[in-house]
Amino acid sequence: MRITKICCIGAGYVGGPTMSVIAQKCPDIKVTVVDLNVKRINDWNDSNTNNIPIYEPGLSEIVAETRNRNLFFSTDVEKAIDEAELIFISVNTPTKTYGSGKGMAADLKYIELCARQIAQVSKTNKIIVEKSTLPVRTAEAIKSILDSTGNGVKFQILSNPEFLAEGTAVADLLNPDRVLIGGEDSLEGRAAMQSLVDIYANWVPKEQILTTNVWSSELSKLVANAFLAQRVSSINAMSILCEKTGADVNEVSKAIGMDKRIGSKFLQSSVGFGGSCFQKDILNLVYIAKSYGLTEVAEYWEQVIIMNDYQKTRFASNIVKTLYNTVADKKITFLGWAFKKDTNDTRESAAIYIADNLLFEQAKIAVYDPKVNEKQILSDLNYLDSRSSQENEKGITVFTEPYEALKDTHAIAVLTEWDEFKCYDWAKIYDSMKKPAFIFDGRNLLDGKQLEKIGFIYYQIGVGN
Ligand SMILES: NC(=O)c1ccc[n+]([C@@H]2O[C@H](COP(=O)([O-])OP(=O)(O)OC[C@H]3O[C@@H](n4cnc5c(N)ncnc54)[C@H](O)[C@@H]3O)[C@@H](O)[C@H]2O)c1
Repeated sequence: MRITKICCIGAGYVGGPTMSVIAQKCPDIKVTVVDLNVKRINDWNDSNTNNIPIYEPGLSEIVAETRNRNLFFSTDVEKAIDEAELIFISVNTPTKTYGSGKGMAADLKYIELCARQIAQVSKTNKIIVEKSTLPVRTAEAIKSILDSTGNGVKFQILSNPEFLAEGTAVADLLNPDRVLIGGEDSLEGRAAMQSLVDIYANWVPKEQILTTNVWSSELSKLVANAFLAQRVSSINAMSILCEKTGADVNEVSKAIGMDKRIGSKFLQSSVGFGGSCFQKDILNLVYIAKSYGLTEVAEYWEQVIIMNDYQKTRFASNIVKTLYNTVADKKITFLGWAFKKDTNDTRESAAIYIADNLLFEQAKIAVYDPKVNEKQILSDLNYLDSRSSQENEKGITVFTEPYEALKDTHAIAVLTEWDEFKCYDWAKIYDSMKKPAFIFDGRNLLDGKQLEKIGFIYYQIGVGN
């Protein structure tokens, strides 16, 4: 079946960029992205595409080209479902915060709501595509809900997990390592898979479009994230050993990364991984393993999270220790709040947890991030529920100008690897700092040798990173 109308439920970090690229590459397909969040949809429809709600390099240009041509953003979920031949479900699947599986399992309430709404609204046969990251065998539950309508409408469920990385989402979508599509091994299942393959084949070479069974596809996404996060925790574990032994973790990582079997990517020590996916997907994997009674498997992967948490706490306590065991009323400047560069996403950012730790020590934190505003920073801290919002407001000052944030500060913590930080006038910054001045490069961004040459900045190599 040739698809002419697509609906995507969820206009977030995945739904927005993914559908923008599909609309650009498939001008004959009408793509409607819907969301319950009215503000988010209004922002996607902002006449100035620089104000769209998600910052990703290259995204606003694609939206400017396609919006209201064949890409539409709307809150009319029912209409878009009714019209579409193929529906992507791209809603959030956070870690459960209640009931059984609390703190581990994926919360599937948003997915189930989508399935129920699709079942209720649909009058014609449809292909339903799981774009969200889901526990293995979720398609079974979705199918059971959809098949219970009794109105004769037929649904095919596909799994098509998204492998884009935030910060490089557009480049990843335009040139993916692979596109993975899982479907049922039946005549109808294979036909549905082919319809989706045909969409991607507009720009992705056929040999990079993999088709598998649904369960392999669902599980592969969790496994991919677990492996990536595991590399970060592995090198971070080594950074601790390096500090004790006098080895330099950057040199170690370069030396081992040159081995083609190991490879150099995701091998840089850091303050720990953040973002909405790694932690939640590993927790989900751990939960699934536990639910099958696979204790050893669960414990093995759980260690990746434990190491990540340890690295963040260690980074914060290193700051306190270095500043003579007290940071009370000392200004400490954070460069960066987003969990990585080139995104405005702050979910699970290490900066939140470092700030939380330092606020317990009564530090005065100044923050500058080129893409994250004060409202977001305060809401991230308030979400932790460690202290009242008034106390958070007293402890944090957010700046829109970096040199103001850095003036009179006792220490700087580089927590996002924004390129612009590398171009700052570090000699000028040093002059404006309280002495002795300290810098903690949590993202391994600044050139340690260069800073050493300047001669007055304490550079904590390998710490947290
Ligand atoms: N962010 C990433 O880098 C990334 C990468 C790959 C996969 N994923 C997965 O993709 C999924 C979406 O992630 P995200 O980062 O885009 O989340 P997000 O929170 O940015 O966006 C999800 C959107 O879905 C909307 N929504 C929820 N229920 C709805 C409903 N019933 N009807 C209409 N809209 C609804 C929410 O309002 C929200 O705007 C998750 O499962 C995530 O694990 C994320």
